[in-house]
Amino acid sequence: MGENRLPVVDARDIVKVYQSGSEQLKVLDHVSIQVRRKDFIAILGPSGSGKSTLMHILGCLDLPTSGEYYLDGLDVLRLKENQLAEIRNKKLGFVFQKFNLLPRLTAIQNVVLPLLYRGIDEKEAMKLAEEKLSLLGLGERLNHKPNELSGGEQQRVAIARAIVGNPEVILADEPTGNLDSKSTKDVIGVFQELNKQGNTIVMITHDVEVARQANKIFYIRDGKIYDDGGLP
Ligand SMILES: Nc1ncnc2c1ncn2[C@@H]1O[C@H](COP(=O)(O)OP(=O)(O)O)[C@@H](O)[C@H]1O
Ligand SMILES: [Mg+2]
Repeated sequence: MGENRLPVVDARDIVKVYQSGSEQLKVLDHVSIQVRRKDFIAILGPSGSGKSTLMHILGCLDLPTSGEYYLDGLDVLRLKENQLAEIRNKKLGFVFQKFNLLPRLTAIQNVVLPLLYRGIDEKEAMKLAEEKLSLLGLGERLNHKPNELSGGEQQRVAIARAIVGNPEVILADEPTGNLDSKSTKDVIGVFQELNKQGNTIVMITHDVEVARQANKIFYIRDGKIYDDGGLP
């Protein structure tokens, strides 16, 4: 087995407990998940099942109450906040339901930002951003602001921003949740194409039809995870 088949995401026995007043809410209950390079997996579950909580942990945006998490071989729970920020910038690409584009910036300015944070020269960064936007069919929309783009176009800008730095993993939380059925197909098609080109994708969704477009489905119910064969 080649080295690139080692799991890039390796989360083990993840527990997340939220304290709300005097109540303890166990949102993730010993979740283990491995994602290999070049996988395109979906995590499917109903609202409130713990999907976004898991995505925040896999995305190094939040820490679990207990468990272990290795991302690209790094022991995430031992890292300091500045190291986590660097991992988020260099190893992960995020796509959210509400696109999360900066409204005052143009498409290309949004896409260039993660590269500027890395200290990449602006001219080089603009070139890379334009390449990615063109790849996603937005070559004619570089200087449009988010409110001058359709939902599907805004999400493609967000995907361009997620991939511009060549992340190890793309994490998408309900990426089609705000889109009509045509834009949903477009966005899924983009993920499938990116996966064919070698990108590793973790897509969270509550929509079974969307999940089926991935290569593998994990199910999440009440904070427990089940793989393809294992839903009770
Ligand atoms: N910061 C928080 N504090 C307390 N409870 C939370 C917090 N975030 C999420 N929850 C609760 O955890 C559960 C799972 O939420 P979430 O992970 O957002 O689910 P999903 O994304 O599957 O809809 C829900 O019951 C939610 O209300
Ligand atoms: Mg959610």
